[in-house]
Amino acid sequence: MADPTVNLTIDGKPVAAPKGMNLIEAAKLVGVEVPHYCYHPKLTIAGNCRMCMVDIGMPKMGADKKPEMGPDGKPVIQFAPKLSIGCNTSVAEGMVVHTRSAKVIKAREGVMEFLLVNHPLDCPICDQAGECRLQEFSVDYGKGQSRFVEEKVHKPKKTPIGPKIMLDDERCILCSRCVRFMKEVAGQDYLGFVNRGSYSTLTCYPGMEPKTNYDLNIVDICPVGALTSNDFRFKQRVWFLKETKSICPNCATGCNTVLSSREGVVYRQTPRDNDAVNQCWMCDSGRLHYKFINDPRRITAPSVKSTGMGERLSLTWPEATHQIAEKLKSLKGGGGTIAAVATARATTEELFLFRKLVREILQVELVDCVSHTGDGDRFLLNADRNPNTNGARLAGVTNEPVGSRIPVIAEAIKAGKIKALIVHGENIATHGIAEDLLAKLDLLVVIDTLPNKVTDIAHYVLPGATFAEKRGTFINAKNRLQRLNIAVPSPGIARPEWQTFAALLNELGADGGYLTIEDVFADMARSLAPLAGLNLSKIGDLGVELKLAAVPANAEVPDKPAAVTGAKA
Ligand code: SF4
Ligand code: SF4
Ligand code: FES
Repeated sequence: MADPTVNLTIDGKPVAAPKGMNLIEAAKLVGVEVPHYCYHPKLTIAGNCRMCMVDIGMPKMGADKKPEMGPDGKPVIQFAPKLSIGCNTSVAEGMVVHTRSAKVIKAREGVMEFLLVNHPLDCPICDQAGECRLQEFSVDYGKGQSRFVEEKVHKPKKTPIGPKIMLDDERCILCSRCVRFMKEVAGQDYLGFVNRGSYSTLTCYPGMEPKTNYDLNIVDICPVGALTSNDFRFKQRVWFLKETKSICPNCATGCNTVLSSREGVVYRQTPRDNDAVNQCWMCDSGRLHYKFINDPRRITAPSVKSTGMGERLSLTWPEATHQIAEKLKSLKGGGGTIAAVATARATTEELFLFRKLVREILQVELVDCVSHTGDGDRFLLNADRNPNTNGARLAGVTNEPVGSRIPVIAEAIKAGKIKALIVHGENIATHGIAEDLLAKLDLLVVIDTLPNKVTDIAHYVLPGATFAEKRGTFINAKNRLQRLNIAVPSPGIARPEWQTFAALLNELGADGGYLTIEDVFADMARSLAPLAGLNLSKIGDLGVELKLAAVPANAEVPDKPAAVTGAKA
């Protein structure tokens, strides 16, 4: 049953809020900002920063326990003598809240002045500058000047908090968000405060330090520049970064993310709110696994292995697709002589076209994806490290269990039955088909982003695009269809794989008319019932849940915080 609604007024605006909602959230419903530092919607309430103070009045009750009415026929409102904190005050029927009264403005100015008394005002060298609540609230709610003329208290400036985070104690406003996150979400009660008053300092408990796969979330939720990520600090000023909504491609959870890039280089990946997937968190292994996008070894152009000295010759795209299509055509009569390995790291659109190419046009029977698994942690990190296993299932390019046909393909190559192999996005030499078997093939076509043993021996190598360089969709472990966007361009003439598969289809006489990713999605929506009626716009930033046959057994359900120690990517 839905929570009963409570009617109140905030800054003169009528608000209907669910019973139990606090005033910060209720004010958001009518576009009113109540500034706050320590409050975080996913953590318990600490009520220590006092920035969220508001003026609260309630209808005055008469002796008959009914609201007293004023001459204007409205209830008489009796305001509390002191201000209250909005984060820990729930909405109540008839409540009247002022967030901008003279009393509130004066109190906020006092809080800001107090918070900045010992603050080092490091903004020019602080990584948080540009996204710092102290800066923002100083401008919006501060006094604009300090009366503090004494020497500031100096605290430690560069203290490691575990292996991934650096703490600047002088900047810490003691809001305890990080302490609460580690205890309540990451399940490690390792952070706390020592000393009193102006000398209060955040520290790790003796002999302990955060070492979970979720530590870097405290950098996101620190409202000031006290906690910085070793990976990102001093790399870029944040106002230069372009932000692109994306999806983490490192497990089947599909955490919603923001990719921050500048001039074609991705500098960081941070979580994006989606209560149906990752709330506002992400794991560190996923967050930090973005550097391959910027890898200088990226494959930048199609190439063919020359017959002479074993060198590779660069090709244009038309040359590459034409030559590969001709070779495949010559083998086409015996579809049994070709096998194909797709990747469940590809988008659903790519998997759909891959299936069309190999199963429908080349009549290949031996097709599968590689299974990538690891430890799941029952919070976010899924045991299935492929981001789009459900997309591969829906597109029909994998078998159950995923990867079960890879050994069959290896055997068929060994027996000389398979003469040609198409591999997309997998270093198959480390996943079931050894190099000596690959060397026996008459035709090995590899589509990938980075060089490896398999691209070294492949007859044709076609460059692909990473998840940050293309549009398309993933379907996560809970059957949620989510959208990727382009953050950076691909290097050289590398391009999204759906274009490569569309070009090969074209060369093989099966032109699907795929000029844009929308064309591919439209064809999918016509052919695959769970996608009927959808298009890329309708998916939206938060994705849509599909009605697929069944949620696979390995789907982790991130419904509640739990101890999440120890899981590694
Ligand atoms: S380090 Fe940041 S999150 Fe932690 S208590 Fe200080 S200001 Fe708050
Ligand atoms: S839990 Fe999975 S999807 Fe989320 S950040 Fe980690 S690896 Fe990425
Ligand atoms: S946000 Fe309410 S006291 Fe800090």
